[in-house]
Amino acid sequence: MNDPQKERREPPADLEMRLGQAMYTQRATRRLKPDAIPDSTVASILDAATQAPSGANQQPARFLVIRDAELRRRFGALYFEAWWAKRRDHQGWKTKADIPADDTNHQLAAVLADEIGEAPVIVLVLARGADWGHSVYPSVQNLLLAARAYGVGSVLTILHPDVLERVFDLFEIPKDWHLYCCIPLGYPRGSFGPTSRLPHSAVSFSDQWGQPFDTSSDEN
Ligand SMILES: Cc1cc2nc3c(=O)[nH]c(=O)nc-3n(C[C@H](O)[C@H](O)[C@H](O)COP(=O)(O)O)c2cc1C
Repeated sequence: MNDPQKERREPPADLEMRLGQAMYTQRATRRLKPDAIPDSTVASILDAATQAPSGANQQPARFLVIRDAELRRRFGALYFEAWWAKRRDHQGWKTKADIPADDTNHQLAAVLADEIGEAPVIVLVLARGADWGHSVYPSVQNLLLAARAYGVGSVLTILHPDVLERVFDLFEIPKDWHLYCCIPLGYPRGSFGPTSRLPHSAVSFSDQWGQPFDTSSDEN
């Protein structure tokens, strides 16, 4: 390794949930307790994030960890504005009454918009420039899975352009950086998982586009 800052580390001894269990129960957790998360746990979650692959191992992702109560409160107000700006643009909704009763995804997302400032930790994920998504999101997924393994709820969220300048000013982020996502962390008020996803047969092809993937070759 040429860069002395890049080092090999052992995984934290307490990061031990079975990978399958973590993957199949890592859900958008938006109802979060305000209870503090130990700094050591947050550090281990961030360390797991750093283990992800990136193009040429350039590791462009940076994590701004917001724990200060006043900053969380002020960010929470901006997140609320951003979430409702997205609803205005995408669905034309203006208030909670506009959200269909059976749309639990948006119902819960609206709760997060009200409450995100009370999450004990909010992580902003950034890189210098807007072209690093491929190398940023693997680390985000590691972060989400590690949080799950520690019993910490999380949800990947993105902001609306309306608020970005004020978010950057609030945290004194240099203008040449790009905000990829915002992840509140907190112990869940409810329980985790299971996820509800398309089966692999609905999203996978075999050898030729459109040709179903099957497992019949296992029988040969
Ligand atoms: C790119 C991306 C953007 C998202 N943005 C938001 C968001 O702004 N607010 C929110 O509450 N959830 C957001 N989510 C969470 C998704 O709604 C959630 O992962 C999806 O509905 C699956 O939910 P589940 O894990 O509970 O099944 C986002 C997820 C992704 C991957």
